[in-house]
Amino acid sequence: MSQYRAIRGMVDVLPDETPLWQMLEQTARDVLVAHGYAEIRTPIVESMELFTRSIGEETDIVEKEMYSFPDRNDESLSLRPEGTASTVRAAVQHNLIQSPQRFWYLGPMFRYERPQKGRQRQFHQLGVETFGVAGPEQDAELLLMCRQWWTRLGINDVLTLELNTIGSPEARSCFKAALTDYLRDQFNSLDEDSQRRLDTNPLRILDSKSATTQAVLDGAPTMTEYLDDESQRHHDRLCQLLDMAGLAYTINPRLVRGLDYYNKTVFEWTTDKLGAQATVCGGGRYDMMVSKFGGKATPASGFAAGLERLVLLMQTLDIDAISVPDLYIVSSDNNAFGQAMLEADRIRCEFPGLGVVQHLGGGSFKSQFKRADKSGAAWVMVFGAEEMVSGKVTLKPLRANEQQMTLSREELDTFLSQLEQLVNEY
Ligand code: HAM
Repeated sequence: MSQYRAIRGMVDVLPDETPLWQMLEQTARDVLVAHGYAEIRTPIVESMELFTRSIGEETDIVEKEMYSFPDRNDESLSLRPEGTASTVRAAVQHNLIQSPQRFWYLGPMFRYERPQKGRQRQFHQLGVETFGVAGPEQDAELLLMCRQWWTRLGINDVLTLELNTIGSPEARSCFKAALTDYLRDQFNSLDEDSQRRLDTNPLRILDSKSATTQAVLDGAPTMTEYLDDESQRHHDRLCQLLDMAGLAYTINPRLVRGLDYYNKTVFEWTTDKLGAQATVCGGGRYDMMVSKFGGKATPASGFAAGLERLVLLMQTLDIDAISVPDLYIVSSDNNAFGQAMLEADRIRCEFPGLGVVQHLGGGSFKSQFKRADKSGAAWVMVFGAEEMVSGKVTLKPLRANEQQMTLSREELDTFLSQLEQLVNEY
């Protein structure tokens, strides 16, 4: 066993899994580019206050999960637990929000949670943040874009969209007061966690997992009774747009999300295939954050998907991606190796769509062929004594039902160009 191990909750993604990650990321990029979104990259470390002010002092993330520390100058810093606050900070700092904007980011986030399947302390999010559009059409675009991504990944059928509106801050605070009064009367029937939350963050009690608390909530006031007209209209139009697009959703009046910055639309994509960590993506509207960070009041809306959970879901559904070379080049001796190296270099330049691996470290043809087979390559290209004399190369198929061929350099190029075309189509 090695002397050092990865920190608890921080996970190595090993080479047999990275092709699936790459496929997931590439599919996301394709969908985002197709919708006109631009990538933004922000630092992993930010001032602690950025997160406490936006996510909320009384949320689990800020209360118990942030990796925070003083730097050598005693400034309080945090590893980012999410990407929305950083994106807003960067957009305000660089004056990017003068016209509507669509941004996305991908990277590691950090939360000190109890690790389990689908829950890590370092995890990865693909996030999207949009600025400048107040209407529900922006929320609809985000949800349709998610559906495109799920469809291209082959997971659309196992995901459910849960939707809610939490109204304006004023409407929510009236609802919060009514809910708190109701729950205080039922204090003894609440689970311990909810009892604690009653004074700090009563809305979070709505998504308590405790059955007894859920039973108490059956008689509780609902957000719908307190919803302001504008939020109601926003919500109705969003539902209308989703209906038009044939995007199915479930209204979940108890969906409140774990971050305090939302207003109006909130949503989560969930699955029943992953056990407790069922939410693969969550988001909503946060129209107050830009002005809170010193920018001109600007409406905003976005979401973030957890990549580990998407990878797990794809693995559960046996969706896989593999990365194998197209050509594996073997050679008989030092002289042939030199020739083969030049040829490998030339092929990689002239046929950039092909994956070309050259065998290093010598050995018999037999052992080199064994390695070629293990690599998963489709073809072996042989530089042996005969080939050195004739100036030709031999190609042996390892997977396809094809014949072995000995080709002149000209014939080789025709073959490689066909192979490249085939690989590109695939
Ligand atoms: P969030 O719901 O906290 O939202 O996180 C989004 C997603 O990140 C979750 O649905 C989940 O898939 C994944 N995730 C969260 N924590 C973990 C963890 N410990 N391990 C593995 N995956 C995890 C946000 O972060 C908001 N910033 C989303 C947003 C963007 N809202 C508006 N714009």
